[in-house]
Amino acid sequence: MTLIESGSAADAAEIIRKNKEYSLFSWSVQQDVNPIAMERARGVYFWDAAGKRYIDFSSQLMNVNIGHGHPKVIEAIKKQAEELVYAYPGMATRSRGEAAELIASITPGKLKKSFFTLGGADAIENAMKMARLVTGRQKIITRLRSFHGGTFAAASAGGDPRRLAFDPGMPWIVRVPEPYAYRSPLYRNCTPEEGDMAVVDMMADIIEMEGPQTIAGILLEGYNGSSGLIAPSTARYWHRIRELCDKHGILLIADEVMSGFGRTGKWFGVDLYGVVPDLMVMAKGLTSGYVPLGAVVASEAIAEHFEKNMLWCGLTYSSHPLGCGAAVATIKVYQEENLIENAAAMGKVLEAGMRELAEKHPCVGDVRGVGLFWLFELVKNRQTKEPMQGWNKPLSEPMKKVAARLRELGMFTFVRWDWLFCVPPLCITSEQVREGLAIIDDALGLADPYVEG
Ligand SMILES: Cc1ncc(COP(=O)(O)O)c(C=O)c1O
Repeated sequence: MTLIESGSAADAAEIIRKNKEYSLFSWSVQQDVNPIAMERARGVYFWDAAGKRYIDFSSQLMNVNIGHGHPKVIEAIKKQAEELVYAYPGMATRSRGEAAELIASITPGKLKKSFFTLGGADAIENAMKMARLVTGRQKIITRLRSFHGGTFAAASAGGDPRRLAFDPGMPWIVRVPEPYAYRSPLYRNCTPEEGDMAVVDMMADIIEMEGPQTIAGILLEGYNGSSGLIAPSTARYWHRIRELCDKHGILLIADEVMSGFGRTGKWFGVDLYGVVPDLMVMAKGLTSGYVPLGAVVASEAIAEHFEKNMLWCGLTYSSHPLGCGAAVATIKVYQEENLIENAAAMGKVLEAGMRELAEKHPCVGDVRGVGLFWLFELVKNRQTKEPMQGWNKPLSEPMKKVAARLRELGMFTFVRWDWLFCVPPLCITSEQVREGLAIIDDALGLADPYVEG
């Protein structure tokens, strides 16, 4: 047997070999997978097994919001593991109560009681079940461009092509257009705000056609994430949807899995608009990915319903003590280290830098986002907005070149269709923002030659 030195290229190659030979990678044709052998991580950086450092500009899967390797959260996980590592979900535990109380204190309005899951998709499943149980109705309205998780009904709820292999999916999902000011035909010849209103008018119309008495909930990301950060320009959009819900007895469900926990510069995406949902779904930033945990947070009125009616929801690992312990420590880190405020402040530095790059690089068609939740949308032609690649098209030559260059220069982030995401951990400093943007500046230069005209 040959000895492989740790920290060597051979060590990294061996890790990758075993991973590829014995495990399956998500959302991939397996032979195309080309993973980084990730070994350790701290703050906004991580290192591979060969010792190469990467700046993490997507917080892994947009979830490591507090940054990597936070000692307080690691300590809390160790302490929890020593005290109580697992409890049957019918038990009351210290960490469960503390986590739920903290969540009630940071969520808006009368959101109060948490049902804990393991992640985002199973929280979405349970939120849809609750909406159907409470209203006695079946249908859930969602957006065409959206993502709500990879389990069957959650994938069906999203409009993202990750559902297409299993379509038609759930028959009770009704999808409506989204406020895509940059591309939607509903925004031609009008202001973005007028376009937003047209989108809501269409939603109202669809609700009438579907029969409001058949609709249990409207499920929307608090701030849309992996389908392209497509968000309205005016809070009126959300308020009118809230009014529609109130008028028809439909529950408003906010999916804050990606947009929650400071990502937008507020605790939750809906806080940008001052709207309060009836159910809020969270995961990712809840523990910053240190331990898997998700939650559905129910309003007092919904919680009241389940005082007298059966909650037909359950998981072996619901309210897992380790996850809840990690959530308590993580939420305290956001609070004690002012990470939400830092996200808002660093978001301004990031936005300014991105807009400068957009001026410089003709391949940039649009720059959009909020807080530390941004992307570049690349085009072949700024006037016609012809996409560099297009929705759900295989990675094109320019986008492949951009992605490869980012990786070569030591940046990890998402390059998906026409988008290059900038979603770093909330603990980032302005020097680190500039360090990341310098790498992106170089990589965008490889797409510029593909601009036509
Ligand atoms: C908005 C949104 N909802 C739900 C999910 C699913 O979460 P999970 O992957 O933890 O199941 C995701 C995952 O990216 C998401 O972005």
